[in-house]
Amino acid sequence: MSEKYVLITLFGATGDLAARKLYPSLYHLFQKNVLKNHFALIGTGRRFLTNEQFRQHIKQSLSDINDSDEQKNKFCQHFYYVSLDVTNLDDFKELKKTIHQLDEKYHFHGNQLFYLAMAPQFFATIANHLKQANILETNGYHRLIIEKPFGTDYSSALQLNNELSKVFKEEQIFRIDHYLGKEMIQNILALRFGNAIFEALWSHHYIDNIQITFAEHIGVEDRAAYYENSGALKDMMQNHVLQVLTLLAMEPPVSLEPLSLLVEKVKVLEAISFKDDDQIAHDFVRGQYIASQEQCGYRQEQNVSPQSQTETFVAGVFHINNFRWANVPFYVRTGKKMTEKGTRINIVFKNLPFNLFDSSMTQNILTIYIQPTEGFSLLLNGKEVGSDLLAPVKLDFKHNAHTLSNSPEAYEKLLLDCLNDDHTNFTHWKEVAYSWKIIDQIENVWHKGLSPLYFYQAGTMGPEQSADLLQQTHRHWIWQPQQ
Ligand code: BG6
Repeated sequence: MSEKYVLITLFGATGDLAARKLYPSLYHLFQKNVLKNHFALIGTGRRFLTNEQFRQHIKQSLSDINDSDEQKNKFCQHFYYVSLDVTNLDDFKELKKTIHQLDEKYHFHGNQLFYLAMAPQFFATIANHLKQANILETNGYHRLIIEKPFGTDYSSALQLNNELSKVFKEEQIFRIDHYLGKEMIQNILALRFGNAIFEALWSHHYIDNIQITFAEHIGVEDRAAYYENSGALKDMMQNHVLQVLTLLAMEPPVSLEPLSLLVEKVKVLEAISFKDDDQIAHDFVRGQYIASQEQCGYRQEQNVSPQSQTETFVAGVFHINNFRWANVPFYVRTGKKMTEKGTRINIVFKNLPFNLFDSSMTQNILTIYIQPTEGFSLLLNGKEVGSDLLAPVKLDFKHNAHTLSNSPEAYEKLLLDCLNDDHTNFTHWKEVAYSWKIIDQIENVWHKGLSPLYFYQAGTMGPEQSADLLQQTHRHWIWQPQQ
């Protein structure tokens, strides 16, 4: 990989995300010589820090990495700190001076990447101030990476997008959905479009239903202030879950170019619709965790209202109204404090039209394990040894520990994609817009009080109403780790 010439200006440099994900990822890119002599990073934040204090902070964030101090120090030398109040234009003028000085030193050819890893209410202000302070007038490229949430509903997302578009063109904006950087999510397209045996069966002709589970074992941790206003629907469903759904349901793209993929992904979102409010109330279940013997309930978490109505779990069914997917339910569920951490997809195939055997037949199931296990399995029927009966046989492929430990983290891949100007694994405004429109419809029904909040004990797979969703049509959740 060739060396990148770039200055990164990071807003939210002393935040949690930067320390946990960004600095270690940048360090790995530095170790691989992708970032080297022509790279520098300016961290910004409200508090005052010297460059040396900031570098200590960076070093601290690398403490899990087993490299020498010398290697880490070499990396940290590329980091600078500018104390800045994002609402104050004058501070941006100071920032500009530092950028200019660093270009003299590192010769990054004016290439600049602005990373917004802070409260979303400041995204538009930052973009405006970058422009007004003439920071975007250098010769090279100017790219903007934005963390979620991109708006809190369609209209706020639209407003934000309109503001940003006054400064940055769509092709300069990289909206992060970190799941799109995960190895096994990227593998969905390889599995679908690289294997005749799957693509030939990939439709309502042979698939009975598809199940997508994003289960988390942790609770809301220290993010209650954000989560209370978000809930599982906006935190996970609007972005990660719908993104995975589009990858599973899209038509084969003309090529793997970002725009070809985008066209097909957007068509999936366009094809999702609901008959009326009653259908939504019936098809989506909201849950909230309550205390178990070992864990506290959501309402007892720090900074959560004791009467909170926020959902920490949502399950539902989407129908994709097109030729390929007519009558194939896409069941989705996501929640906090569930039995265990696991993101997985189950593709459940239809029963054969006739059973020749005296024993029952298991439905074929293709499972895609996204995390923490990574791999695939295929459930088939085989003959039980020594008898004429059928027995389920599982073909299993799991990535081994060596492969896993060598695979770059999602953030490292996404940062590299952005440096390469590759939009494949970022969400385009059109996807954001359509997914908010879908989520808004569900949210509106909930807002009208048409869907009760159900409770589930921490450590379980959600309220029983989530199982009922499938039972109504004699189906069940394939993944039931509590059993
Ligand atoms: C984030 C959500 O987008 O994804 C968090 O805001 C959630 O609430 C996280 O915990 C899960 O990501 P991962 O990579 O740990 O599965």
